[in-house]
Amino acid sequence: MTANYDSIAQQYKKSKELPFRLHIEAYTFFNLLGDLNGKSLLDLACGEGFYTRQFKQKGAARVVGVDNSDKMIELARQEEASQPQEIEYIVADVLELGEIGSFDLVVAAYLLNYAQTKEQLLKMCQSIFANLKPGGRFVTLNNNSEQPPASYPITEKYGFIKSVDEPLTEGTPIKYTFKVDGEKFSFDNYYLSQATYESALRSVGFKEVRWQKPIVSPDGVRQEGQEFWQDFLNYAPMVGIECVK
Ligand SMILES: C[S@@+](CC[C@H](N)C(=O)[O-])C[C@H]1O[C@@H](n2cnc3c(N)ncnc32)[C@H](O)[C@@H]1O
Repeated sequence: MTANYDSIAQQYKKSKELPFRLHIEAYTFFNLLGDLNGKSLLDLACGEGFYTRQFKQKGAARVVGVDNSDKMIELARQEEASQPQEIEYIVADVLELGEIGSFDLVVAAYLLNYAQTKEQLLKMCQSIFANLKPGGRFVTLNNNSEQPPASYPITEKYGFIKSVDEPLTEGTPIKYTFKVDGEKFSFDNYYLSQATYESALRSVGFKEVRWQKPIVSPDGVRQEGQEFWQDFLNYAPMVGIECVK
């Protein structure tokens, strides 16, 4: 299952320089995460460690990153070797992960949208829940299932576009195409309804499940103007989720 990131690892890393990544994605994510000081944190689908490194920089005491792409973890380990932060990186599939520890926080930027079925989603949610302390939080960013496909073209000005070949039903592939420095690359996510996400998260035992619309940073507004971001906010392509064990 899942997209194979081995072939697009470098390009994906480059896409993290797009302004929306900083001013909306990271801003929304860190707002949900709150104070990381002294916390233990498991970063699932950590990719090349873009956020993983920031968690450590923001004071997390212990950070473990997991991804099923050898290439992504290779890039993450290269960064760790050149600037050691004592981050541990593991190549593993979240579907098969089981319990590897007991963390204050489990995070996963763009993991759940790789589940193609309700069953796969449940397995991911079980792995997440199993690695959290009681009272611990799961914080994630995800494809926003609620964005109407008619509005997909509107995100082109932010550097990416989604497309579908058929009406959205459970498991429909959603193709993301990024354009960074004039170069295009694509990968697929999979549609599952918001109700399916909500029910999977609750059925593994999460007591609270909160949905967070994207928000834009004051710096982003200063640099690009509110008008530039308004379509992103109105037709949110992604969404944040916060769950409490
Ligand atoms: C869109 S990238 C996000 C990377 C990182 N979280 C970030 O925001 O920069 C999605 C990542 O999920 C990983 N992935 C997808 N399915 C996975 C699975 N079942 N287990 C572990 N990693 C997975 C991919 O290899 C890829 O690195």
